[in-house]
Amino acid sequence: MEKVVLITGASAGLGEEFARQLAQKGFSLLLVARREERLFTLQQQLCLQYPDLVIHSFCVDLRDDLAGQQIIDYLQSNALSLVGLINNAGFGQRGLFSEIDVNTHLDMLQVNIRSLVALTYLAIAEFEVELSFIVNVASTAAFQAGPNLAVYYASKAFVLSFSEALHEELKEKQIQVSALCPGATNTEFAQVADLSGSLLFRLRVMEKQAVVDYALANLHKAIVIPGGVNKFGALMAQLSPRSITRKLAYYIQK
Ligand SMILES: NC(=O)c1ccc[n+]([C@@H]2O[C@H](COP(=O)([O-])OP(=O)(O)OC[C@H]3O[C@@H](n4cnc5c(N)ncnc54)[C@H](OP(=O)(O)O)[C@@H]3O)[C@@H](O)[C@H]2O)c1
Repeated sequence: MEKVVLITGASAGLGEEFARQLAQKGFSLLLVARREERLFTLQQQLCLQYPDLVIHSFCVDLRDDLAGQQIIDYLQSNALSLVGLINNAGFGQRGLFSEIDVNTHLDMLQVNIRSLVALTYLAIAEFEVELSFIVNVASTAAFQAGPNLAVYYASKAFVLSFSEALHEELKEKQIQVSALCPGATNTEFAQVADLSGSLLFRLRVMEKQAVVDYALANLHKAIVIPGGVNKFGALMAQLSPRSITRKLAYYIQK
């Protein structure tokens, strides 16, 4: 059986960068996202660059309840086993809660939370022995409430809490679990979330290479916050009254 790392949301941004850096480190991969052409192009590039690796891609919409099982079925039917899982796919949508279509909120919960939980569960159930690391991409948004991105912030608080708990539970099984908490990062995220013009993304943005490099160097940590400014911000968010941090979050993403 070929051993691979599964990366969700590999067609862009942090997921694509995880694919490039993991391939460089010698890992075979299964790339997952919706946009087929993007995945195929990345797959081709990596196959050319690293002919010794096996690079698979599988198009699936993580809003679909069956997506997790379909990914596991793909692994099994291609005789692949999992050594790593990067639960990276996710999106946000700026706006007042009541002014955004409820289906967008529910899709966000599905992609950011439900699919992540399902994939994590199935991956452990099927590949407990081979699996050595899981990275769940949370955000510095996890450390406070976020008016104007209410569901997104709440979804990332879930990812952080869930990942910390699994970090302890899975130690006995030698599976490292970390919550990666990037701050504003230069990907397509801001454009998709309609945040490009916000103060948050005009203040300071990290490059995805540095975020992923830091994440992969810290797989053993429960909470991974790339960048000194983000670390400081997350610390202040935890030390300050929540009545202040939520107002500040509202201000920077209006
Ligand atoms: N960039 C930031 O400032 C920032 C900060 C903190 C945390 N994060 C988190 O980092 C993660 C990666 O985001 P990014 O910054 O790299 O954004 P991005 O460039 O927009 O990439 C998002 C990825 O998620 C995939 N995705 C979205 N909806 C999907 C669905 N329904 N089914 C399957 N795949 C889906 C997209 O692929 P397709 O569209 O092809 O499906 C894409 O590959 C997210 O969880 C995000 O919340 C980002």
